[in-house]
Amino acid sequence: MSTVMNESPATEMKDRSAYSPGLEGVIAGESALCLVDEGEAGLLYRGYPIRELAEHSAFEEVAYLLLFAHLPNRQELANFSAQLIDRAVLPRLLEVFLGAVPSDAHPMDIVRSGVSLLGVVDSDTADNSHEANVYRSIGLLAQIPLMIAASYRLVTGKPRRRPHDDLTFAENLLYLLTDRREDDQAKAMARVLDVSLTLYAEHEFNASTFAARVTASTMTDLYSAITSAIGALKGPLHGGANEAVAEMFLDIGSRERAETWVREALVKKHRIMGFGHRVLKKGDARSIIIQRHAESLSRICGDHRWYEIATTVNRVMEQEKGLHPNLDFYTAVAYLLMGIPRELYTPLFVCSRITGWCAHVIEQQDHNRLMRPRALYTGPSRRDYVPLDHRS
Ligand SMILES: CC(C)(COP(=O)(O)OP(=O)(O)OC[C@H]1O[C@@H](n2cnc3c(N)ncnc32)[C@H](O)[C@@H]1OP(=O)(O)O)[C@@H](O)C(=O)NCCC(=O)NCCS
Repeated sequence: MSTVMNESPATEMKDRSAYSPGLEGVIAGESALCLVDEGEAGLLYRGYPIRELAEHSAFEEVAYLLLFAHLPNRQELANFSAQLIDRAVLPRLLEVFLGAVPSDAHPMDIVRSGVSLLGVVDSDTADNSHEANVYRSIGLLAQIPLMIAASYRLVTGKPRRRPHDDLTFAENLLYLLTDRREDDQAKAMARVLDVSLTLYAEHEFNASTFAARVTASTMTDLYSAITSAIGALKGPLHGGANEAVAEMFLDIGSRERAETWVREALVKKHRIMGFGHRVLKKGDARSIIIQRHAESLSRICGDHRWYEIATTVNRVMEQEKGLHPNLDFYTAVAYLLMGIPRELYTPLFVCSRITGWCAHVIEQQDHNRLMRPRALYTGPSRRDYVPLDHRS
């Protein structure tokens, strides 16, 4: 049966005032997940201040909060954590794929394609029910770290690791990537990693979450929406910034070079990664939290180089451009101290933001309205068609 779509002709948009380049300031939907506020309220996940969640809750509590709309009690948390361990297994198709990936492939491309393949092996993707999507979300949260670690270990020829049920999500993640878990320094690193995962988990209608929601609004499957989100996150103006910040620190090399380096970059009109935000013009509350942890980790590791470079760059950027660091800036300091390879920084963001994305996809599909905005037409006005043989 053929369907005739009843689209209106491409007329010029009548109300130009409705147009906002980059959708800046546009409210594109409703969400109960997160309040981004530059004022008194600060950043809230389902009503809870981010500062308290980062300081007092483990990341898996935050993941649970986003997916189930309440903070877990001890029993709920134990069950959730056990599920994350049980479901940390990759299907055979993923293993074959990881074995065939070129050694120079970017981990973000691997995780994007890996999530897409998880959709291939899920035999019931047509079921978009709330319960089915929560179940899939927990699977993705368990499998994505494994996928990232497995591909990294294959390329570097290191033996595979399995998550342990006596470790937290962050401790396991650090262990899967670096083999570290026992010593005091590793415990301190896992704590900072945990804080960074909580801070990365959710941020309203950012580009990748919006991409996920647009895709979900067609009532396609969760994996398709998450694949869209990962593709959007990869860009350096979004999640790719944390990797770019580390690259900048490595290029600067020492605190003594930092000021000249930034000033020269600004003269050349370069963007300094890890600064600025489309919404948070007065500063990012998350950056203040991760900066404090990056500083204390520098002390614990006895390595102040990255933190000193960072604070110098920060000072010059505030003086010269009035721009504040965003979450990616001091997170890069923390991840450098952990010895995590920098091409894994944006994939680490995925390990966390998968919770926010999934919660948004579920929220979108629970109250769906297809996203279909309009464009302001800027092409030529109507012209006469010229048959192929008459064209000069
Ligand atoms: C995040 C970002 C895209 C938001 O940008 P935006 O709201 O669209 O702001 P604009 O791109 O319009 O920039 C406004 C002005 O600030 C400048 N600016 C913004 N971020 C800058 C940065 N990181 N370095 C240098 N200048 C910057 C722009 O050049 C522009 O200056 P101009 O008016 O003299 O041309 C932008 O700040 C950026 O590119 N940051 C670096 C990437 C990054 O850290 N991304 C992670 C975001 S959480």
